[in-house]
Amino acid sequence: MVWVPTFPADEVEAGAARVAEAGGRRIAVCNTGDGLYAIDDLCTHDGGPLDQGRLNGKEIECPRHGARFDVTTGRALCLPAVRPVKTYPTRVVDGVIEVDVPA
Ligand code: FES
Repeated sequence: MVWVPTFPADEVEAGAARVAEAGGRRIAVCNTGDGLYAIDDLCTHDGGPLDQGRLNGKEIECPRHGARFDVTTGRALCLPAVRPVKTYPTRVVDGVIEVDVPA
């Protein structure tokens, strides 16, 4: 695993999700207001771009067919998705959000 810098922490506001390229994958960096979380930007139902969905607390809704995921655990919360999205550890170093992705 390797820590990859993404965005300045003050550029991802509470309730926002922004997508970054890290470790060869698209990762949605989400600010729930309580913390920063990183998930694959790929809905497990049919590949929808989760960063384009609505983030409400720790739940993000896929813009394509409405599946919701818990960004803190990756768990699928409702149909049509049943499989979790992958999550990645985050940290802030010198004001920049880093995500820990496979090398
Ligand atoms: S692609 Fe996300 S709910 Fe269908």
